[in-house]
Amino acid sequence: MKKLLYTVPFLLLLIGGYFLWPSSKPVVSNLNEARLMLSELRGGDFTHAGDREAVDMVITKIKQEASEVLNGNCLDVGCGFGGTADYLVKNGFKHVWGIDIDPAVINYAKSKYKQVQFSSVDAASVSLKFDRDFFSFVYLFNVLYAIEDKVTVLRQLARVSKPGALLMIFDYSVEETTEPLLDLTGKPMRPVSMKKIKQQLYESGWEVLEVRDLSETFVVWYEQLLQKLEDKKKEIKGHFLEKDIAKFSATYIHILHQLRHKILGGVLIYAKRI
Ligand SMILES: C[S@@+](CC[C@H](N)C(=O)[O-])C[C@H]1O[C@@H](n2cnc3c(N)ncnc32)[C@H](O)[C@@H]1O
Repeated sequence: MKKLLYTVPFLLLLIGGYFLWPSSKPVVSNLNEARLMLSELRGGDFTHAGDREAVDMVITKIKQEASEVLNGNCLDVGCGFGGTADYLVKNGFKHVWGIDIDPAVINYAKSKYKQVQFSSVDAASVSLKFDRDFFSFVYLFNVLYAIEDKVTVLRQLARVSKPGALLMIFDYSVEETTEPLLDLTGKPMRPVSMKKIKQQLYESGWEVLEVRDLSETFVVWYEQLLQKLEDKKKEIKGHFLEKDIAKFSATYIHILHQLRHKILGGVLIYAKRI
């Protein structure tokens, strides 16, 4: 009888826990549902175009051309759920920090990835958090498009980077400034302007080393993402609300349309701290 008294509440807890735990994500409140869905579809805690393939492009380049960066301090700016920073650690980067303006994603990342030091910081004031000349490598995967005052952020990043440090920007791009699109969270997208970015980087203390147009690759990546949504719809429906799935699908169909019509593009930029 006494045994039963202990066993029943334990079983109830287990059953309750099962229903309160709809996916393998740690439970953290205030996470944006559409971004969670994106991260689930991408099969890692990434919310940038090209998933692992995009990160591999960067890792390969660094290992071939700037391998000293592996031992230096690295900063993932706008790290989101933390999957990219963790992937760098798993690929030999020894000291990785992650910052994001959204405390909910930082709580999530902290609870899941212990080898990265995460903190909730606005990139526009990153020099309040880190010393001057601290980083050897600073990178942004689909973050700069969310920032209107790019020069302020790039200047702040230059402050905390040592002379000769490497900066990598992976993002949406535009040739001509057009009406801002809305991103998955409903905020305006401000893609990198190909007309302005070199000057913006120079003004903020960076010299451009390489600009690689990824527009055609972005089209393929977004086609694959939408295909994955189709293939996994049943599974996704078990975890997310119909309205969130519809919003997600509409956002990415629109982005793909803009990419196909070359209104929007994709770019990978490397720069060096002057
Ligand atoms: C599309 S997500 C990309 C996340 C991550 N880089 C990845 O690839 O998975 C953009 C991220 O940038 C963050 N962000 C936007 N503005 C920021 C700012 N001023 N400072 C720090 N993070 C910012 C957002 O909170 C969001 O997590």
